[in-house]
Amino acid sequence: MTSRDSPLVLGIETSCDETGVGLVRGGVLLADALASSVDEHARYGGVVPEIAARAHLEAMVPTIERALGQAGLRHRDVDAVAVTAGPGLAGALLVGVAAAKAYALALGVPLHGVHHLAAHVAVDTLEHGPLPRPSVALLVSGGHSSLLLVPDLATEPVVPLGATVDDAAGEAYDKVARLLGMPFPGGPPIDAAARAGRADIPFPRAKAGDGTFDFSFSGLKTAVARWVEARRRSGEPVPVADVAASFQEAVADVLTAKAVAACRAHGVDTLVIGGGVAANSRLRALAALRCEAAGITLRVPRPGLCTDNGAMVAALGSLRVEAGVAPSSLELAATSALAL
Ligand code: KG4
Ligand code: ZN
Repeated sequence: MTSRDSPLVLGIETSCDETGVGLVRGGVLLADALASSVDEHARYGGVVPEIAARAHLEAMVPTIERALGQAGLRHRDVDAVAVTAGPGLAGALLVGVAAAKAYALALGVPLHGVHHLAAHVAVDTLEHGPLPRPSVALLVSGGHSSLLLVPDLATEPVVPLGATVDDAAGEAYDKVARLLGMPFPGGPPIDAAARAGRADIPFPRAKAGDGTFDFSFSGLKTAVARWVEARRRSGEPVPVADVAASFQEAVADVLTAKAVAACRAHGVDTLVIGGGVAANSRLRALAALRCEAAGITLRVPRPGLCTDNGAMVAALGSLRVEAGVAPSSLELAATSALAL
């Protein structure tokens, strides 16, 4: 089958604050439209579920129209609809799942509910081609920090190897940024500030029990808060760039050490990194260094595909459709704590 003859899959993502719509045909990304409510959450310092759900509702139809416009395609060209069924914010997921059912029903095409984390991994195939089996994936965002063993993305469930036991990596960035008086989301300003700083403050590398692939970031966040408070109490200026660089180094160190260890433990030679924190310059650089030293091929999608988007859902939907996986029923539920 040539890629032109492959089914056109419309993907819908609404698990958090991004309304994403992607169009993929045969592993080729044809459109990737996004509407974000991030600005509406900024003054609260985190995503407010009700605001996110309402924003999805308003953005859904225009974003689908925009994606079709980008690709120069019409509704009737769509051969299947894929949607994030979970995990995520319940009300936000519900909007996407309801919209996906409506489009699938109206167009008379199959519906595929997909797992958000598996979709984060699948998006890499749009840039770097089929994923070797098995691979290891490190997914780090504001909502999740997970290490996964990935067999066949289309037909086999992804196996969780480890996850954060408290804060997600991005959440730690957001909380430390707030502490330093930086805007939400905190990843980009910390990344920028860290460039001018020295990573010489010895913040802890919490490993949540050595020998596991779990993470813990809450102790690190508290250590940064205590250090900054002590500085402020003593009347000395807070070296913001050094704090940012040292915090960033602690996060990147733990994430890359565990990811490489997971590859070694499972005899895997390909690591995929995704999620919003994968945009982090130090995480990317350190992962590249350590993977090269360990003989592991590192795959990181471009930043726009690392954060939540519709292309990732369309990518996984497309893999499932092409593998002949049975579609979901129109009873598909939005499941906030969807298991892998
Ligand atoms: O994947 P994403 O867009 O949304 C979800 O949380 O699912 O990830 C957003 C997170 C935020 O916590 C943000 O601070 C973080 O990704 N982030 C970064 C960077 N850019 C975004 N963290 C570190 N460095 C960055 N350059
Ligand atoms: Zn995500």
